[in-house]
Amino acid sequence: MLARAWGAVLNGVDAVPVRVEVDIGNGLPAFTVVGLPDSTIQEARDRVRGALTNSDESYPMTRITANLAPSDLRKQGAGLDLVLALGIVVSNEQAPQDGLDGRLFCGELGLAGDVRPVRGALQAAEAARAAGLKEIVCSPANAREAALAGLPVLAVSTLREALDVVRDRVRLEPITEDAEALLQTTVHNGPDLAQIRDQDHAKRAFEIAAAGGHNILLSGPPGSGKTLLARALPGILPSLTLSEALEVTRIHSAAGLLFPGESLIRTRPFRSPHHGVSAAGMVGGGSMFTRPGEVTIAHRGVLFMDEFPEFPRSVLESLRQPLEDGFVTVTRSRQTTTYPARFMLVAAMNPCPCGHAGTERPCKCPPRTYEIYRQRLSGPLLDRIDMHVPVGRVETKKLLGEDDATRSSAVRQRVESARAFGRSRHELLHVTCNAEIPLGKLITLCALDEATAPILTKAANKYDLSARTVHRVLRLARTIADLDEKEAIAKDHVLEALTYRVVHKGAEL
Ligand SMILES: Nc1ncnc2c1ncn2[C@@H]1O[C@H](COP(=O)(O)OP(=O)(O)OP(=O)(O)O)[C@@H](O)[C@H]1O
Ligand SMILES: [Mg+2]
Repeated sequence: MLARAWGAVLNGVDAVPVRVEVDIGNGLPAFTVVGLPDSTIQEARDRVRGALTNSDESYPMTRITANLAPSDLRKQGAGLDLVLALGIVVSNEQAPQDGLDGRLFCGELGLAGDVRPVRGALQAAEAARAAGLKEIVCSPANAREAALAGLPVLAVSTLREALDVVRDRVRLEPITEDAEALLQTTVHNGPDLAQIRDQDHAKRAFEIAAAGGHNILLSGPPGSGKTLLARALPGILPSLTLSEALEVTRIHSAAGLLFPGESLIRTRPFRSPHHGVSAAGMVGGGSMFTRPGEVTIAHRGVLFMDEFPEFPRSVLESLRQPLEDGFVTVTRSRQTTTYPARFMLVAAMNPCPCGHAGTERPCKCPPRTYEIYRQRLSGPLLDRIDMHVPVGRVETKKLLGEDDATRSSAVRQRVESARAFGRSRHELLHVTCNAEIPLGKLITLCALDEATAPILTKAANKYDLSARTVHRVLRLARTIADLDEKEAIAKDHVLEALTYRVVHKGAEL
Protein backbone atom coordinates (compact mmCIF):
# COMPACT_ATOMS: atom_id res chain seq x y z
CA MET A 1 0.00 0.00 0.00
CA LEU A 2 1.11 3.57 -0.58
CA ALA A 3 1.47 5.85 2.47
CA ARG A 4 1.62 9.65 2.25
CA ALA A 5 2.78 12.06 4.95
CA TRP A 6 4.28 15.51 5.41
CA GLY A 7 7.77 16.28 6.65
CA ALA A 8 9.99 19.33 6.21
CA VAL A 9 13.61 20.12 5.37
CA LEU A 10 15.65 23.27 5.81
CA ASN A 11 16.65 25.36 2.84
CA GLY A 12 18.82 28.21 4.13
CA VAL A 13 16.90 29.49 7.15
CA ASP A 14 13.50 28.62 5.69
CA ALA A 15 11.76 25.25 5.83
CA VAL A 16 10.27 23.59 2.79
CA PRO A 17 7.40 21.14 3.31
CA VAL A 18 8.25 17.73 1.87
CA ARG A 19 5.64 15.27 0.68
CA VAL A 20 6.91 11.84 1.69
CA GLU A 21 5.49 8.83 -0.18
CA VAL A 22 6.36 5.34 0.99
CA ASP A 23 5.54 2.28 -1.07
CA ILE A 24 6.12 -1.37 -0.19
CA GLY A 25 6.25 -3.60 -3.21
CA ASN A 26 7.51 -6.98 -4.30
CA GLY A 27 11.21 -7.55 -4.69
CA LEU A 28 14.39 -8.30 -2.82
CA PRO A 29 14.72 -6.60 0.59
CA ALA A 30 15.90 -3.03 -0.01
CA PHE A 31 15.09 0.48 1.20
CA THR A 32 15.56 3.13 -1.48
CA VAL A 33 15.07 6.87 -0.95
CA VAL A 34 14.67 8.97 -4.11
CA GLY A 35 14.14 12.72 -4.56
CA LEU A 36 17.66 14.17 -4.15
CA PRO A 37 18.42 13.03 -0.57
CA ASP A 38 21.90 13.80 0.78
CA SER A 39 24.01 11.41 2.86
CA THR A 40 22.22 12.24 6.16
CA ILE A 41 18.92 11.15 4.63
CA GLN A 42 20.53 8.05 3.07
CA GLU A 43 21.76 7.15 6.56
CA ALA A 44 18.17 7.53 7.81
CA ARG A 45 17.48 4.10 6.33
CA ASP A 46 19.61 2.41 8.99
CA ARG A 47 18.28 4.58 11.82
CA VAL A 48 14.68 3.91 10.75
CA ARG A 49 15.21 0.15 10.57
CA GLY A 50 16.87 0.11 14.00
CA ALA A 51 14.20 2.33 15.56
CA LEU A 52 11.33 0.23 14.15
CA THR A 53 12.73 -3.12 15.25
CA ASN A 54 13.62 -1.76 18.71
CA SER A 55 10.05 -0.43 19.04
CA ASP A 56 8.67 -3.95 18.43
CA GLU A 57 7.33 -3.03 14.99
CA SER A 58 7.77 -5.41 12.10
CA TYR A 59 10.20 -4.22 9.44
CA PRO A 60 9.04 -5.47 6.02
CA MET A 61 11.66 -7.71 4.44
CA THR A 62 10.76 -6.66 0.92
CA ARG A 63 11.29 -3.69 -1.37
CA ILE A 64 10.58 -0.28 0.25
CA THR A 65 10.69 2.89 -1.86
CA ALA A 66 10.39 6.39 -0.37
CA ASN A 67 9.93 9.39 -2.63
CA LEU A 68 10.58 12.93 -1.41
CA ALA A 69 8.80 15.72 -3.30
CA PRO A 70 9.58 18.33 -4.59
CA SER A 71 12.12 16.14 -6.31
CA ASP A 72 14.30 18.96 -7.66
CA LEU A 73 15.22 20.28 -4.20
CA ARG A 74 18.31 18.80 -2.57
CA LYS A 75 17.34 17.63 0.90
CA GLN A 76 19.57 17.39 3.92
CA GLY A 77 19.29 16.70 7.64
CA ALA A 78 17.89 13.94 9.80
CA GLY A 79 14.50 15.60 10.29
CA LEU A 80 12.71 13.15 7.96
CA ASP A 81 13.58 10.04 10.06
CA LEU A 82 10.29 10.05 11.98
CA VAL A 83 8.05 10.56 8.97
CA LEU A 84 9.87 7.83 7.01
CA ALA A 85 9.43 5.34 9.87
CA LEU A 86 5.73 6.17 10.21
CA GLY A 87 5.33 5.94 6.43
CA ILE A 88 6.74 2.41 6.46
CA VAL A 89 4.36 1.29 9.24
CA VAL A 90 1.33 2.76 7.44
CA SER A 91 2.46 1.38 4.09
CA ASN A 92 2.82 -2.02 5.79
CA GLU A 93 -0.85 -1.64 6.85
CA GLN A 94 0.03 -1.67 10.56
CA ALA A 95 -1.44 1.82 11.13
CA PRO A 96 -4.12 3.87 9.31
CA GLN A 97 -3.35 6.53 6.69
CA ASP A 98 -5.86 8.80 8.55
CA GLY A 99 -3.35 9.12 11.37
CA LEU A 100 -0.85 10.76 9.03
CA ASP A 101 -3.32 13.12 7.33
CA GLY A 102 -3.37 16.79 8.34
CA ARG A 103 -0.16 16.46 10.36
CA LEU A 104 3.48 17.35 9.80
CA PHE A 105 6.07 15.15 11.46
CA CYS A 106 9.60 16.23 12.23
CA GLY A 107 12.17 14.44 14.29
CA GLU A 108 15.40 12.50 14.15
CA LEU A 109 15.34 8.91 15.41
CA GLY A 110 17.79 7.11 17.63
CA LEU A 111 18.29 3.38 17.18
CA ALA A 112 16.33 2.77 20.39
CA GLY A 113 13.35 4.59 18.87
CA ASP A 114 13.80 7.87 20.76
CA VAL A 115 12.67 11.02 18.92
CA ARG A 116 15.35 13.71 18.93
CA PRO A 117 15.12 17.45 18.24
CA VAL A 118 15.90 18.86 14.81
CA ARG A 119 17.08 22.23 13.53
CA GLY A 120 14.38 24.55 12.15
CA ALA A 121 11.31 23.22 14.03
CA LEU A 122 9.73 26.70 14.13
CA GLN A 123 9.93 27.19 10.39
CA ALA A 124 8.75 23.60 9.82
CA ALA A 125 5.64 24.39 11.89
CA GLU A 126 5.15 27.64 9.96
CA ALA A 127 5.43 25.71 6.70
CA ALA A 128 2.84 23.24 8.04
CA ARG A 129 0.45 26.08 8.81
CA ALA A 130 0.97 27.60 5.37
CA ALA A 131 0.26 24.20 3.79
CA GLY A 132 -3.08 24.09 5.63
CA LEU A 133 -2.13 21.28 8.03
CA LYS A 134 -3.73 21.05 11.47
CA GLU A 135 -1.06 19.68 13.81
CA ILE A 136 2.66 19.17 14.13
CA VAL A 137 4.25 16.16 15.80
CA CYS A 138 7.82 16.56 17.07
CA SER A 139 10.18 15.84 19.96
CA PRO A 140 9.45 17.50 23.35
CA ALA A 141 12.71 19.50 23.02
CA ASN A 142 11.29 21.14 19.86
CA ALA A 143 7.71 21.50 21.07
CA ARG A 144 7.70 25.01 22.60
CA GLU A 145 9.66 26.39 19.66
CA ALA A 146 7.30 24.78 17.11
CA ALA A 147 4.26 26.02 19.05
CA LEU A 148 5.29 29.63 18.27
CA ALA A 149 3.86 29.10 14.79
CA GLY A 150 0.37 28.95 16.28
CA LEU A 151 -0.45 25.32 15.41
CA PRO A 152 -1.16 22.78 18.16
CA VAL A 153 1.95 20.70 18.80
CA LEU A 154 1.96 17.07 19.91
CA ALA A 155 5.21 16.20 21.67
CA VAL A 156 6.36 12.60 21.36
CA SER A 157 9.54 11.30 22.94
CA THR A 158 9.57 7.88 21.27
CA LEU A 159 8.54 6.33 17.98
CA ARG A 160 6.12 4.17 19.97
CA GLU A 161 4.37 7.30 21.29
CA ALA A 162 4.22 8.70 17.76
CA LEU A 163 2.63 5.47 16.55
CA ASP A 164 0.10 5.61 19.40
CA VAL A 165 -0.89 9.07 18.12
CA VAL A 166 -1.16 7.83 14.52
CA ARG A 167 -3.21 4.79 15.65
CA ASP A 168 -5.39 7.13 17.73
CA ARG A 169 -4.66 5.13 20.88
CA VAL A 170 -3.76 8.22 22.95
CA ARG A 171 -4.89 11.83 22.94
CA LEU A 172 -1.94 14.04 23.86
CA GLU A 173 -2.52 17.49 25.33
CA PRO A 174 -1.46 19.92 22.55
CA ILE A 175 1.32 22.30 23.52
CA THR A 176 0.71 25.97 22.78
CA GLU A 177 2.85 29.05 23.30
CA ASP A 178 1.89 32.72 23.65
CA ALA A 179 4.69 34.56 21.85
CA GLU A 180 3.31 38.05 22.70
CA ALA A 181 3.27 37.25 26.42
CA LEU A 182 6.78 35.77 26.25
CA LEU A 183 8.08 38.94 24.65
CA GLN A 184 6.96 40.96 27.68
CA THR A 185 9.46 39.07 29.84
CA THR A 186 12.54 40.32 27.97
CA VAL A 187 15.70 40.77 30.05
CA HIS A 188 18.47 43.16 29.03
CA ASN A 189 21.94 42.01 29.94
CA GLY A 190 25.54 43.28 29.81
CA PRO A 191 27.32 45.83 32.04
CA ASP A 192 25.38 49.00 32.88
CA LEU A 193 26.53 52.24 31.24
CA ALA A 194 26.73 53.76 34.73
CA GLN A 195 29.75 51.54 35.49
CA ILE A 196 31.64 53.18 32.65
CA ARG A 197 33.13 56.48 33.78
CA ASP A 198 33.66 59.51 31.60
CA GLN A 199 33.47 58.78 27.82
CA ASP A 200 30.37 60.96 27.40
CA HIS A 201 31.10 61.45 23.70
CA ALA A 202 31.22 57.69 23.09
CA LYS A 203 28.10 57.11 25.20
CA ARG A 204 26.19 59.69 23.17
CA ALA A 205 27.44 58.02 19.97
CA PHE A 206 26.19 54.64 21.24
CA GLU A 207 22.79 56.14 22.06
CA ILE A 208 22.48 57.42 18.48
CA ALA A 209 23.80 54.16 17.01
CA ALA A 210 21.28 52.14 19.05
CA ALA A 211 18.40 54.45 18.08
CA GLY A 212 19.11 54.25 14.35
CA GLY A 213 20.90 50.89 14.00
CA HIS A 214 24.06 52.60 12.72
CA ASN A 215 27.50 51.01 12.40
CA ILE A 216 30.14 52.37 14.72
CA LEU A 217 33.94 52.19 15.01
CA LEU A 218 35.67 53.00 18.30
CA SER A 219 39.32 53.89 18.23
CA GLY A 220 41.51 54.66 21.22
CA PRO A 221 44.41 53.70 23.45
CA PRO A 222 44.48 50.40 25.41
CA GLY A 223 42.34 50.27 28.55
CA SER A 224 40.15 53.26 27.69
CA GLY A 225 36.91 51.26 27.84
CA LYS A 226 36.17 50.39 24.20
CA THR A 227 35.38 46.74 24.84
CA LEU A 228 33.47 47.71 27.99
CA LEU A 229 31.34 50.20 26.04
CA ALA A 230 30.56 47.67 23.31
CA ARG A 231 29.52 45.06 25.86
CA ALA A 232 27.16 47.59 27.46
CA LEU A 233 25.37 48.12 24.15
CA PRO A 234 22.80 45.26 24.53
CA GLY A 235 21.51 47.08 27.61
CA ILE A 236 20.46 50.14 25.61
CA LEU A 237 19.17 48.48 22.45
CA PRO A 238 15.42 48.64 21.86
CA SER A 239 13.43 45.49 22.63
CA LEU A 240 12.74 43.15 19.72
CA THR A 241 9.34 43.37 18.10
CA LEU A 242 7.47 40.07 17.71
CA SER A 243 8.30 39.69 14.02
CA GLU A 244 11.98 40.48 14.70
CA ALA A 245 12.06 37.98 17.58
CA LEU A 246 10.60 35.29 15.31
CA GLU A 247 13.19 36.10 12.61
CA VAL A 248 16.01 35.79 15.17
CA THR A 249 14.56 32.56 16.55
CA ARG A 250 14.29 31.03 13.07
CA ILE A 251 17.95 31.81 12.35
CA HIS A 252 19.16 30.46 15.69
CA SER A 253 17.07 27.35 15.18
CA ALA A 254 18.50 26.79 11.68
CA ALA A 255 22.02 27.27 13.02
CA GLY A 256 21.36 24.77 15.82
CA LEU A 257 21.88 27.43 18.50
CA LEU A 258 18.62 27.01 20.41
CA PHE A 259 18.87 25.06 23.68
CA PRO A 260 16.60 22.01 23.91
CA GLY A 261 13.24 23.24 25.16
CA GLU A 262 13.99 26.89 24.39
CA SER A 263 11.34 28.84 22.51
CA LEU A 264 11.29 32.53 21.53
CA ILE A 265 14.58 34.46 21.61
CA ARG A 266 13.76 37.73 23.32
CA THR A 267 17.07 39.57 23.38
CA ARG A 268 18.91 40.99 20.40
CA PRO A 269 21.86 38.79 19.41
CA PHE A 270 25.30 40.05 20.39
CA ARG A 271 28.01 38.14 18.52
CA SER A 272 31.69 38.79 19.12
CA PRO A 273 33.70 36.41 16.93
CA HIS A 274 37.43 36.11 17.62
CA HIS A 275 39.71 37.54 14.95
CA GLY A 276 40.79 33.99 14.08
CA VAL A 277 37.39 33.43 12.40
CA SER A 278 37.41 32.32 8.74
CA ALA A 279 35.51 34.04 5.95
CA ALA A 280 33.12 31.05 5.81
CA GLY A 281 32.55 31.32 9.57
CA MET A 282 31.81 35.01 9.18
CA VAL A 283 29.43 35.07 6.21
CA GLY A 284 28.32 31.44 6.08
CA GLY A 285 29.56 28.40 4.27
CA GLY A 286 30.51 24.79 4.70
CA SER A 287 32.15 22.21 2.46
CA MET A 288 29.22 21.21 0.25
CA PHE A 289 26.16 22.66 1.96
CA THR A 290 25.95 26.08 3.51
CA ARG A 291 25.40 27.09 7.12
CA PRO A 292 24.66 30.58 8.42
CA GLY A 293 27.69 32.60 9.51
CA GLU A 294 28.23 35.21 12.23
CA VAL A 295 26.68 38.04 10.17
CA THR A 296 23.43 36.06 9.92
CA ILE A 297 23.41 34.94 13.54
CA ALA A 298 23.84 38.63 14.45
CA HIS A 299 20.76 39.54 12.33
CA ARG A 300 18.65 42.22 14.14
CA GLY A 301 21.41 42.50 16.72
CA VAL A 302 25.08 43.42 17.05
CA LEU A 303 28.20 42.04 15.42
CA PHE A 304 31.06 43.17 17.65
CA MET A 305 34.50 42.95 16.08
CA ASP A 306 37.10 43.72 18.74
CA GLU A 307 40.68 44.37 17.55
CA PHE A 308 39.21 45.17 14.13
CA PRO A 309 42.44 45.39 12.07
CA GLU A 310 43.56 41.99 13.37
CA PHE A 311 40.86 40.20 11.33
CA PRO A 312 42.17 38.69 8.09
CA ARG A 313 41.68 40.84 5.02
CA SER A 314 39.41 38.23 3.41
CA VAL A 315 37.10 38.30 6.45
CA LEU A 316 36.96 42.10 6.51
CA GLU A 317 36.24 42.35 2.80
CA SER A 318 33.56 39.65 3.02
CA LEU A 319 31.58 42.08 5.19
CA ARG A 320 31.09 44.51 2.32
CA GLN A 321 28.05 42.82 0.74
CA PRO A 322 26.09 42.22 3.98
CA LEU A 323 26.88 45.72 5.27
CA GLU A 324 25.50 47.24 2.10
CA ASP A 325 22.57 44.94 1.27
CA GLY A 326 21.48 43.39 4.57
CA PHE A 327 21.81 39.89 3.17
CA VAL A 328 24.56 37.57 2.03
CA THR A 329 24.60 35.02 -0.78
CA VAL A 330 26.76 31.95 -0.27
CA THR A 331 27.50 29.47 -3.03
CA ARG A 332 28.82 25.98 -2.48
CA SER A 333 29.12 23.06 -4.91
CA ARG A 334 25.60 21.79 -4.23
CA GLN A 335 23.77 24.81 -2.92
CA THR A 336 23.40 28.57 -3.27
CA THR A 337 21.73 30.20 -0.31
CA THR A 338 20.77 33.74 0.57
CA TYR A 339 20.85 34.48 4.29
CA PRO A 340 19.49 37.60 6.00
CA ALA A 341 22.23 39.73 7.59
CA ARG A 342 20.91 43.04 8.98
CA PHE A 343 23.14 43.72 11.92
CA MET A 344 24.78 46.67 13.62
CA LEU A 345 28.53 46.50 13.21
CA VAL A 346 30.43 47.65 16.28
CA ALA A 347 34.18 47.62 15.76
CA ALA A 348 36.94 48.55 18.20
CA MET A 349 40.60 49.19 17.48
CA ASN A 350 43.74 50.86 18.73
CA PRO A 351 45.01 53.67 16.52
CA CYS A 352 48.35 51.83 15.99
CA PRO A 353 50.03 48.63 17.28
CA CYS A 354 51.36 50.32 20.45
CA GLY A 355 47.99 51.97 20.85
CA HIS A 356 49.06 55.53 21.54
CA ALA A 357 49.20 57.33 18.19
CA GLY A 358 47.26 60.58 18.44
CA THR A 359 47.17 60.53 22.27
CA GLU A 360 49.23 62.51 24.81
CA ARG A 361 51.57 59.52 25.27
CA PRO A 362 54.22 59.28 22.54
CA CYS A 363 53.71 56.54 19.95
CA LYS A 364 56.51 53.94 20.12
CA CYS A 365 55.81 52.31 16.76
CA PRO A 366 58.58 52.27 14.11
CA PRO A 367 58.07 54.73 11.24
CA ARG A 368 55.31 53.84 8.73
CA THR A 369 53.81 51.25 11.13
CA TYR A 370 50.82 53.55 11.74
CA GLU A 371 50.05 53.74 8.00
CA ILE A 372 50.54 49.99 7.48
CA TYR A 373 48.26 49.23 10.44
CA ARG A 374 45.52 51.55 9.16
CA GLN A 375 45.82 50.14 5.64
CA ARG A 376 44.53 46.80 6.90
CA LEU A 377 41.13 48.45 6.83
CA SER A 378 40.16 49.23 3.25
CA GLY A 379 38.54 52.52 2.24
CA PRO A 380 35.30 50.87 1.07
CA LEU A 381 34.93 49.09 4.41
CA LEU A 382 35.49 52.26 6.46
CA ASP A 383 33.08 54.09 4.13
CA ARG A 384 30.32 51.71 5.29
CA ILE A 385 30.77 52.65 8.95
CA ASP A 386 28.50 55.58 9.82
CA MET A 387 30.17 56.68 13.03
CA HIS A 388 33.91 56.92 13.71
CA VAL A 389 34.35 57.65 17.39
CA PRO A 390 37.63 58.45 19.14
CA VAL A 391 37.75 57.15 22.72
CA GLY A 392 40.29 58.94 24.92
CA ARG A 393 41.98 58.02 28.20
CA VAL A 394 39.69 58.13 31.25
CA GLU A 395 40.53 60.76 33.84
CA THR A 396 41.72 58.99 37.01
CA LYS A 397 39.72 61.37 39.20
CA LYS A 398 36.51 60.23 37.44
CA LEU A 399 37.58 56.60 37.56
CA LEU A 400 37.83 56.65 41.35
CA GLY A 401 34.67 58.74 41.88
CA GLU A 402 30.99 57.84 42.08
CA ASP A 403 29.19 55.81 39.41
CA ASP A 404 28.16 57.81 36.37
CA ALA A 405 24.62 59.21 36.60
CA THR A 406 23.49 57.86 33.20
CA ARG A 407 22.00 54.43 33.64
CA SER A 408 21.39 52.05 30.72
CA SER A 409 17.64 51.88 31.46
CA ALA A 410 17.28 55.68 31.01
CA VAL A 411 19.22 55.62 27.74
CA ARG A 412 17.19 52.66 26.51
CA GLN A 413 14.01 54.61 27.17
CA ARG A 414 15.26 57.48 25.01
CA VAL A 415 16.27 54.99 22.30
CA GLU A 416 12.81 53.36 22.41
CA SER A 417 11.15 56.81 22.18
CA ALA A 418 13.27 57.69 19.14
CA ARG A 419 12.32 54.41 17.44
CA ALA A 420 8.66 55.02 18.32
CA PHE A 421 8.93 58.53 16.81
CA GLY A 422 10.10 57.05 13.49
CA ARG A 423 7.82 53.98 13.56
CA SER A 424 5.14 55.20 11.13
CA ARG A 425 7.91 56.04 8.63
CA HIS A 426 9.54 52.62 9.11
CA GLU A 427 6.28 50.71 8.79
CA LEU A 428 5.52 52.43 5.52
CA LEU A 429 8.90 51.36 4.14
CA HIS A 430 8.91 47.89 5.77
CA VAL A 431 12.17 48.64 7.58
CA THR A 432 12.98 48.62 11.28
CA CYS A 433 15.37 51.54 11.75
CA ASN A 434 16.81 54.61 10.04
CA ALA A 435 20.00 52.85 8.93
CA GLU A 436 17.78 50.76 6.61
CA ILE A 437 15.96 53.66 4.92
CA PRO A 438 16.22 52.78 1.21
CA LEU A 439 17.85 55.14 -1.24
CA GLY A 440 14.60 55.82 -3.10
CA LYS A 441 12.98 57.41 -0.05
CA LEU A 442 16.08 58.90 1.54
CA ILE A 443 15.84 62.39 0.10
CA THR A 444 12.14 62.74 0.96
CA LEU A 445 12.43 61.35 4.48
CA CYS A 446 15.68 63.08 5.35
CA ALA A 447 14.93 66.37 3.58
CA LEU A 448 17.13 69.29 4.54
CA ASP A 449 15.85 72.88 4.44
CA GLU A 450 17.56 75.80 2.72
CA ALA A 451 19.59 76.72 5.79
CA THR A 452 20.80 73.16 6.50
CA ALA A 453 21.55 71.74 3.05
CA PRO A 454 24.55 74.07 2.39
CA ILE A 455 26.28 72.74 5.55
CA LEU A 456 26.29 69.23 4.21
CA THR A 457 27.29 70.36 0.70
CA LYS A 458 30.18 72.39 2.11
CA ALA A 459 31.43 69.51 4.29
CA ALA A 460 31.09 67.03 1.42
CA ASN A 461 33.17 69.26 -0.88
CA LYS A 462 35.75 70.17 1.76
CA TYR A 463 36.34 66.60 2.91
CA ASP A 464 35.69 64.94 -0.45
CA LEU A 465 32.91 62.75 0.96
CA SER A 466 31.64 59.86 -1.15
CA ALA A 467 27.99 59.67 -2.19
CA ARG A 468 27.60 56.78 0.25
CA THR A 469 29.00 58.86 3.12
CA VAL A 470 26.63 61.76 2.33
CA HIS A 471 23.68 59.38 2.37
CA ARG A 472 24.83 57.78 5.60
CA VAL A 473 25.25 61.23 7.21
CA LEU A 474 21.65 62.00 6.19
CA ARG A 475 20.34 58.82 7.85
CA LEU A 476 22.41 59.61 10.95
CA ALA A 477 21.03 63.16 11.08
CA ARG A 478 17.51 61.68 10.79
CA THR A 479 18.20 59.54 13.88
CA ILE A 480 19.57 62.50 15.85
CA ALA A 481 16.41 64.46 14.95
CA ASP A 482 14.28 61.47 16.04
CA LEU A 483 16.06 61.43 19.42
CA ASP A 484 15.07 65.12 19.65
CA GLU A 485 11.55 64.13 18.54
CA LYS A 486 11.70 66.65 15.69
CA GLU A 487 10.14 65.96 12.30
CA ALA A 488 12.46 68.43 10.54
CA ILE A 489 16.22 67.83 10.47
CA ALA A 490 17.90 70.96 11.84
CA LYS A 491 21.38 72.41 11.40
CA ASP A 492 22.59 71.01 14.74
CA HIS A 493 21.50 67.52 13.79
CA VAL A 494 23.54 67.57 10.57
CA LEU A 495 26.53 69.12 12.34
CA GLU A 496 26.48 66.44 15.02
CA ALA A 497 26.14 63.71 12.38
CA LEU A 498 29.18 65.15 10.59
CA THR A 499 31.28 65.07 13.77
CA TYR A 500 31.09 61.28 13.59
CA ARG A 501 32.48 61.22 10.08
CA VAL A 502 34.89 64.00 9.37
CA VAL A 503 34.57 67.18 11.27
CA HIS A 504 36.19 67.39 14.66
CA LYS A 505 34.10 68.91 17.39
CA GLY A 506 33.92 72.67 17.13
CA ALA A 507 35.53 72.80 13.68
CA GLU A 508 34.40 75.57 11.37
CA LEU A 509 32.68 74.65 8.13
N1 LIG B 1 35.64 54.33 31.20
C1 LIG B 1 35.92 53.37 32.08
N2 LIG B 1 35.24 53.31 33.25
C2 LIG B 1 35.51 52.33 34.15
N3 LIG B 1 36.44 51.39 33.97
C3 LIG B 1 37.17 51.40 32.85
C4 LIG B 1 36.93 52.39 31.84
N4 LIG B 1 37.77 52.16 30.82
C5 LIG B 1 38.50 51.08 31.17
N5 LIG B 1 38.13 50.61 32.38
C6 LIG B 1 38.76 49.48 33.08
O1 LIG B 1 39.75 48.95 32.21
C7 LIG B 1 39.45 47.61 31.84
C8 LIG B 1 39.75 47.41 30.37
O2 LIG B 1 38.84 48.14 29.59
P1 LIG B 1 38.53 47.71 28.10
O3 LIG B 1 38.78 46.27 27.94
O4 LIG B 1 37.20 48.21 27.74
O5 LIG B 1 39.64 48.53 27.34
P2 LIG B 1 39.88 48.65 25.79
O6 LIG B 1 39.72 50.09 25.43
O7 LIG B 1 39.03 47.69 25.08
O8 LIG B 1 41.41 48.26 25.68
P3 LIG B 1 42.20 47.48 24.51
O9 LIG B 1 42.51 48.51 23.47
O10 LIG B 1 43.44 47.01 25.18
O11 LIG B 1 41.34 46.38 24.03
C9 LIG B 1 37.98 47.44 32.18
O12 LIG B 1 37.68 46.10 32.47
C10 LIG B 1 37.81 48.34 33.38
O13 LIG B 1 38.28 47.69 34.54
MG1 LIG C 1 39.42 45.94 24.03
